[in-house]
Amino acid sequence: ERSALWGGRFASGPSPELEALSRSTHFDWRLAPYDLAGSRAHARVLQRAGLLTDDDLTALLAGIDALEDDVASGAFTADPGDEDVHTALERGLVDRLGAELGGRLRAGRSRNDQIATLGLLYLRDHGREISRLVRELVAALADQAEKHLGVAMPGRTHLQHAQPVLLSHHLLAHAWPLVRDLDRLADWDARVAAGSPYGSGALAGSSLGLDPEQVAADLGFTGSAPNSIDGTAARDSVAEFAFVTAMIGVDVSRLAEEIIVWNTKEFGFVTLHDGYSTGSSIMPQKKNPDIAELARGKAGRVIGNLTGLMATLKGLPLAYNRDLQEDKEPVFDSVDTLEVLLPAFTGMVATLTFHTERLESLAPQGFALATDIAEWLVREGVPFRVAHELSGACVRVAEAQDKELWDLTDAELAEVSPHLTPAVRDVLSVEGSIGSRDSRGGTAPARVAEQLTELRARLT
Ligand code: ARG
Repeated sequence: ERSALWGGRFASGPSPELEALSRSTHFDWRLAPYDLAGSRAHARVLQRAGLLTDDDLTALLAGIDALEDDVASGAFTADPGDEDVHTALERGLVDRLGAELGGRLRAGRSRNDQIATLGLLYLRDHGREISRLVRELVAALADQAEKHLGVAMPGRTHLQHAQPVLLSHHLLAHAWPLVRDLDRLADWDARVAAGSPYGSGALAGSSLGLDPEQVAADLGFTGSAPNSIDGTAARDSVAEFAFVTAMIGVDVSRLAEEIIVWNTKEFGFVTLHDGYSTGSSIMPQKKNPDIAELARGKAGRVIGNLTGLMATLKGLPLAYNRDLQEDKEPVFDSVDTLEVLLPAFTGMVATLTFHTERLESLAPQGFALATDIAEWLVREGVPFRVAHELSGACVRVAEAQDKELWDLTDAELAEVSPHLTPAVRDVLSVEGSIGSRDSRGGTAPARVAEQLTELRARLT
């Protein structure tokens, strides 16, 4: 016997090929608890509108509770004949309550407004979970930054030595984009909360006097959709969620790439904890940064989920089209991906060992203090254009002799320019260089400590 929610006007049932194509229970089953929550809220507005007696409502709610228990225990599952999660759960309810009462619940709602609402309910829950996981990663970065306050490292642009920075400053530079991702998730949630689609019906709203605002409040929304066509057709909020998860993936991948590089023999900046690295099946010595590599790889996957969804939405006419069934798997996959990736990644970050002596000794190399010479000259009254040239000349002299800037003799400095007195040596140290960059957002130790406090305040 078929459980389809339609069929009155059809002389024959659907072909098996259609059923196979149409079926979505293998991925929308995870929405079952939200479907049941929607059914409870809907039963209440039907009763309020006089379409269910108090006894009907009590019996319906009891039936929904029983069905929910059976879904949770696995005693009730989708049948191959169930088109989607809504179809299966209505079958379950009718089985428990009979067609007379079980068949009343569908009045005034459509799978179109149901699915639009359930997807958002699911994403709001998982948005909160992902926020919690991102906050833990930010906290792990903050802890590492705090532990290594005062340690210098080579700051890079174009992957070349640029200027020395504090390791903590660099680590916090990976934390701030994640803090903005947390803001994005919170903004997204507030926007979604304002427009519950339930009550939009198939597209035109309901003639039965049901109150969408009541359903919205019941389901934890702050308001209902102002336009029923938009309520059923829009998926911009799903796409925005896909964007934020893709951005998190990208932000994590940039730190991942650095950890992969830092973990090489050539860099030797970090050692990974054994529990967060992997071996090779043939090379006994190998200790690989697989978590970081998977993070880098999975960023591609979550970007693909976003672009796939955008392609599905492009050019779709209003209102509901079956194409919209394709909105779920991409975001479900992004949720699953981040929920398994973030805990592993956070564990890897929290247990990283930094080789601080190596970081410190490399910090000034590659003529990373050349800018300090130029800025010292500016403070001596030399125009920056000239100062830049003079500092560059110091680099040329030092490079020709295969030595560092601080190895230049007084005579060599004076030969480059009489402005370059021995006092310039004051800035030719990592400590002096880092300490001098003390404006807001700079790498000076006091500023980085301040920044850490500011970051921690954002986490509470
Ligand atoms: N399973 C559909 C989806 O995920 C919802 C049902 C709407 N189906 C329909 N024929 N109107 O979008």
